[in-house]
Amino acid sequence: MTAFVAPMRSPTESPQSASHAEPRTAVVSGGSRGLGALLVRRLLAGGWQVATFSRKAAGLPRDGSGNDWDERFFWQQADLSSTASLRDFVAAVAQRFGHIDLLVNNAGLLAEGLLATVSEKTVQALIAANLVGPIILTQACAKVMMRRKRGAIINVSSINSVRGHPGVSIYTASKAGLDGFTRSMARELGPLNIRVNSVVPGFFATDLVASLTPERRDRIARRTPLKRLSDIHEVADAVMFLASEGSSFITGQTIIVDGGYTC
Ligand SMILES: NC(=O)c1ccc[n+]([C@@H]2O[C@H](COP(=O)([O-])OP(=O)(O)OC[C@H]3O[C@@H](n4cnc5c(N)ncnc54)[C@H](OP(=O)(O)O)[C@@H]3O)[C@@H](O)[C@H]2O)c1
Repeated sequence: MTAFVAPMRSPTESPQSASHAEPRTAVVSGGSRGLGALLVRRLLAGGWQVATFSRKAAGLPRDGSGNDWDERFFWQQADLSSTASLRDFVAAVAQRFGHIDLLVNNAGLLAEGLLATVSEKTVQALIAANLVGPIILTQACAKVMMRRKRGAIINVSSINSVRGHPGVSIYTASKAGLDGFTRSMARELGPLNIRVNSVVPGFFATDLVASLTPERRDRIARRTPLKRLSDIHEVADAVMFLASEGSSFITGQTIIVDGGYTC
């Protein structure tokens, strides 16, 4: 009997890496602050062309390393709650860079409050920004990815989608919806060589969670097996892994980055 010997390939080569001579294009929603801004910087540093949007330009990542990113960086104002602005943004990206290889549905909104007191306006705003917006953006970007039959989509969810907490039911519903969307889209887009995964972070320090008191942060750290809060880079690492060729056979999954909080 002849033993099967897998063909050798370099550590960076994968079935998806066929033509990386040309720069790959990433779309990151909400690249002006927090995790989105870090992802934009890391992708640019890795040679990607990067397109991002936010409602305000304030806080957009600036190049502090002496590199010239002008050619590879694109920002346009868009709002997750405006379908038209999202479609305009994706059309502008396709025109500017010609193709899209990666979408990170990063931008999100958090509003806390018990369901008994939460306004309908808040309910609509959270679902629009955290669920409908990413769905519309995915639809627009996936159509561009389908032309070349390859791509990766990463949805940034939250541990609220897997563990119940009071006061965040609408946020939770939106993120749990996003994770379900991930699995279904992985089935739809897999045959087109487009992978879809969720990154599910626990707490990391950004504007989004600035209102969390030191006591609540301490409590989260105490309940975390690793006995500390995550560094934002550790969440970005998981996104970068799912964007990389190292994850070329992973789709439809949720990777929880919470130091074991939900285990
Ligand atoms: N921080 C945490 O502890 C934590 C934990 C679990 C999950 N997450 C998730 O991780 C993701 C990133 O969170 P983050 O903490 O980095 O948030 P952040 O610091 O508040 O940044 C949010 C980004 O999204 C943009 N954005 C927000 N609403 C938008 C809208 N309606 N339209 C367009 N852009 C919008 C913001 O820019 P503008 O305001 O200018 O629009 C900003 O660039 C979110 O999906 C969040 O739910 C965060």
